[in-house]
Amino acid sequence: MKDKILVTGGTGYIGSHTTVELQQAGYDVVIIDNLSNSNREVLDGIEAITGRRPAFVEGDCTDIETLRRLFKEHPGIKGIINFAASKAVGESVHKPLLYYRNNLDTLINLLELMPEAGVKGIVFSSSCTVYGEPDVNPIDETAPIKKATSPYGNTKQISEEIIMDYVASGAPIKSIILRYFNPIGAHPSALIGELPVGVPQNLVPYLTQTAAGIREQLTVFGNDYNTPDGSCIRDYIDVNDLARAHVTAMSRMLDNADTDPVEIFNLGTGRGVSVLELIEAFESATGVKVPYKIGARREGDIEKIWAQPTKANEVLGWTAEVPLTETMRNAWNWQQKLGK
Ligand code: UD1
Repeated sequence: MKDKILVTGGTGYIGSHTTVELQQAGYDVVIIDNLSNSNREVLDGIEAITGRRPAFVEGDCTDIETLRRLFKEHPGIKGIINFAASKAVGESVHKPLLYYRNNLDTLINLLELMPEAGVKGIVFSSSCTVYGEPDVNPIDETAPIKKATSPYGNTKQISEEIIMDYVASGAPIKSIILRYFNPIGAHPSALIGELPVGVPQNLVPYLTQTAAGIREQLTVFGNDYNTPDGSCIRDYIDVNDLARAHVTAMSRMLDNADTDPVEIFNLGTGRGVSVLELIEAFESATGVKVPYKIGARREGDIEKIWAQPTKANEVLGWTAEVPLTETMRNAWNWQQKLGK
């Protein structure tokens, strides 16, 4: 058995896929989640895939006493992956304090408790949103950080700074900051996937719900951008590939004494795909038509951004591998499993 890892937000979308990969790599996982945007049945899915049920604590990471108790009841945790955060850009504009409190209190509590609990490293979920609208694509980790366009984005920027300041102060911990591009898809078993609550804000869940007939029509937000087909371009990364990057990062952080105390990696495929291309990829992968119309631009959207993932490829030894068609099929299988 490898080290014991605490996965905060472990019943959520990326957290559940990462827990599967950690367990399959031999790690022992403890999950804490307040179930605000996920549910307990996700644990059944994880168990069905891996044959092991992770330890589960229902609790809120913004409460430091809950975390203190967790570290007492689960001694020997060596690493943390921090997924517990609010992530809806639009909502963050209307409820900024919720975002600052959830995202920052959680991180500060974890960092503060790490030394006394003997935890050596923390992997932090950041986002390509820290780059704003890039001057050049693909974008690498040395690109300037632009002023955040939402409180959500700002929590990611501030969190990165908090980690860097804490490590610079001599705290006996290490961190790997992972800047995700656009995670999509589901586990190939269709036993876990994304569980959007209410009307999905993100493209792929909206698309699969439309294909399933739950939504009438997908709206493409703008076709007058300065891109080949006029729709926005993103770097869509398969959630299973993304999950595997966390396992690699964890092992690098815990098993190598000589790595830098803070490292930052972009996690993307290196390929830009437009909204219209994504719809087409879904249709050709599944044979299912997606009714869509062209609508107005969505406020705050970035025109085009995709990753230069060379650093992750070379330093982490990780590469995104799942072809887009397979990702689309997994997303569709998961949607069909969810039903209407
Ligand atoms: C953004 C952030 C990302 C953040 C995520 C959280 C950037 C570059 N990305 O992703 O860091 O983690 O929000 O939610 O800031 N679209 C449609 N119709 C729809 C929905 C989306 O056309 O119904 C288009 C959008 O205009 C966009 C693309 O699909 O071009 C992807 O949108 P979405 O899935 O919401 O992700 P981002 O906004 O890129």
